[in-house]
Amino acid sequence: MESFIRTLPKVELHVHIEGTLEPELMFELAQRNQIPLPYASVEEARAAYQFDDLQSFLDMYYLGAAVLQTEQDFYDLTWAYLLHCQQDHVMHTEIFFDPQTHTERGVSFQTVMAGITRALADGEQQLSISSRLIMCFLRHLSEEAAFETLAQAMSYQEYIIGVGLDSSEHGHPPEKFRRVFEKAHEAGFLTVAHAGEEGPASNIRDAMSMLRVSRIDHGVQCSQDPALVEELVRNQMPLTVCPLSNVQLRVFNRMADHNIIALLRKGVCVTINSDDPAYFGGYMTDNFLAVTAAFDVTKEEMAVFTANAIRASFLPDEEKAQLQ
Ligand code: ADE
Ligand code: ZN
Repeated sequence: MESFIRTLPKVELHVHIEGTLEPELMFELAQRNQIPLPYASVEEARAAYQFDDLQSFLDMYYLGAAVLQTEQDFYDLTWAYLLHCQQDHVMHTEIFFDPQTHTERGVSFQTVMAGITRALADGEQQLSISSRLIMCFLRHLSEEAAFETLAQAMSYQEYIIGVGLDSSEHGHPPEKFRRVFEKAHEAGFLTVAHAGEEGPASNIRDAMSMLRVSRIDHGVQCSQDPALVEELVRNQMPLTVCPLSNVQLRVFNRMADHNIIALLRKGVCVTINSDDPAYFGGYMTDNFLAVTAAFDVTKEEMAVFTANAIRASFLPDEEKAQLQ
């Protein structure tokens, strides 16, 4: 099983590029840019990655992102992630980025875009990894700030296929961004949203009805609402599930308690993803292996995760066919 998983072709649909910042690169960039870090060493940073919930992680994640300053920094970050993709047999990846994390610190939208897109172009050319970019709004910030961010994205529609919603789910329901997502749809962006990670199943329903999303990011709280699970099976709404993330953020106490295999067997279009691999202990292969270690699953079942991810991707049908 292990060698099958390692070489299984994979498609990633839920990874935050800022969450791929390994402590080694964080220290290198901190030195390059003269940014102080609250950790004395790489080991101390890694040891600090113990989380009680989503917010305790987010506090550390935004702190780490402060070392990202120049176009080259964003290039190096993205390139390092793509090398992990190559190692893990990830053929295609759809990457989130959080522009507000950077523009709020005075780093321009253009700087972020230029570094990420240059690395993605090199990844396509040199590693044959295809990719798409999804811009996330930080849901703890205002609707107005999201509108401003959407306005900036309008000049980059060639590079940004869709918009998403991330950060603190508690207290910031989908409804808060209904009008922003309306405008994003009008402009031709596809939409996704984090929903039902820590928050209630109603956030999943609301993301579908109010934000008209093409996929739900996480969505694991759907099990609180059996009628919703039936609906997810009927409409084949994809869930981009992140197993290691969910255990690290204590959404589930142990991997064996995770509902991903139960959802798969019910016929929900579930996929496996890494979320913030530098913080949660692993990239795509590690997430697949963690699931196989905790459940009695077959190779055929594990291959369904890739088939689902291809189907749920934002690639045109011809390119989906080439991945199969
Ligand atoms: N930003 C980065 N990772 C996230 C997660 N798992 N949930 C919400 N926002 C995030
Ligand atoms: Zn996420």
